Amino acid sequence: MSTRQELAAVLGDQLPPEWRAAFDEVPRELFVPDVGWVVEDNGADSIPVNRAVAESDWLAGVYSDAAFVTQHEGGRATSSSSKPSMVFAMLGHCDLRHGQSFLEIGTGTGWNAGLVARRIGDGNTTSIEIDAPVAARARENLRRAGRSPLVVTGDGEQGYKPNAPYDRVEATCSVRSVPRAWVEQTRPGGLIVAPWETASAGLLLKLSVDGSRTAAGRFVGTAGFMTLRSQDRVIGGEPDDFDELATVGSTDLDAPEVVSGHARTAVGLLIPDMRMTMDINDDTGYLEQLWFLAPDAWAAVDPYDGTVRQAGTRRLWDEVVSAHAWWAEAGEPEYTRFGVAVDTVTGGQWTFLDDPARTVPV
Ligand SMILES: C[S@@+](CC[C@H](N)C(=O)[O-])C[C@H]1O[C@@H](n2cnc3c(N)ncnc32)[C@H](O)[C@@H]1O
Repeated sequence: MSTRQELAAVLGDQLPPEWRAAFDEVPRELFVPDVGWVVEDNGADSIPVNRAVAESDWLAGVYSDAAFVTQHEGGRATSSSSKPSMVFAMLGHCDLRHGQSFLEIGTGTGWNAGLVARRIGDGNTTSIEIDAPVAARARENLRRAGRSPLVVTGDGEQGYKPNAPYDRVEATCSVRSVPRAWVEQTRPGGLIVAPWETASAGLLLKLSVDGSRTAAGRFVGTAGFMTLRSQDRVIGGEPDDFDELATVGSTDLDAPEVVSGHARTAVGLLIPDMRMTMDINDDTGYLEQLWFLAPDAWAAVDPYDGTVRQAGTRRLWDEVVSAHAWWAEAGEPEYTRFGVAVDTVTGGQWTFLDDPARTVPV
């Protein structure tokens, strides 16, 4: 695939008619650099492309429904142009109208800001980027595309007060808690759309700010994004001294079931600082060990005989068992029944099931 029209065909209904003019007039190829990495469907691998070496591969990457990583630091992607279907899904949740005011957190290449500016007006669009060279390139990309939204260099966790209040705040990097400034800078009746991240789940949060004391909203999709820099932290690696430190027990709970599907998302929401991983034998392809890793504790579960090893300041597997029991007792709800509520006075926030009054025991 190599043209905008072909990508539009692939996106189909995922490119809503109200975004078609912006998609055509703010071409992604003006925003994506000549050298980068096209992320594969599995989300983990990426293919390097270089326009000078193979222009057709580069163009195919630009016009495929894939994220295009533009920058790596320390082995991790630190900036990208998000996957087009995700870009339009998030813009759809933003429910934008011409004349509304919009703040984007995470300018990246500037493509999303350019699309929004085409739709609601340059003067109504503000985007903030923490990485100064990335912000400078985005300004240049936008200029080449004939767009001029305000691109601010700064920490988007603080929002951008001079242009507040906003009708819509959209983050294109993920958060573990909603920054208070975003809520304060959203006009009553406004929306905040942001990828929400726990150590083991990536969801999309749509929060309504209605002027009352509680701003609240549910998860409306899944989303894997790089994290807002100030909230980014890597959670625990697998320990080497595994046998000496651990207390050994056993479990009846089916551990592989806990790390998959809706159970995984729910347990991830209930224990947000815990990462779940698995060891798979390279030769046999068999699952060997399931890991539950938090900053201050870990647990390892043998998926065949249910042997549990736990170490650290918390009994992490016991927490998993309680979280899973709570979820099962609640009728095994899917992630779309969960949401986040923010107390607009104190900034305190909590996860809920169905209604902000039904707090999830995190
Ligand atoms: C997935 S990229 C954004 C994609 C972008 N919307 C586009 O259309 O190309 C995420 C961006 O968020 C930026 N970022 C991370 N933390 C930030 C923060 N605290 N404030 C502003 N930008 C931040 C990163 O530098 C990165 O460029």
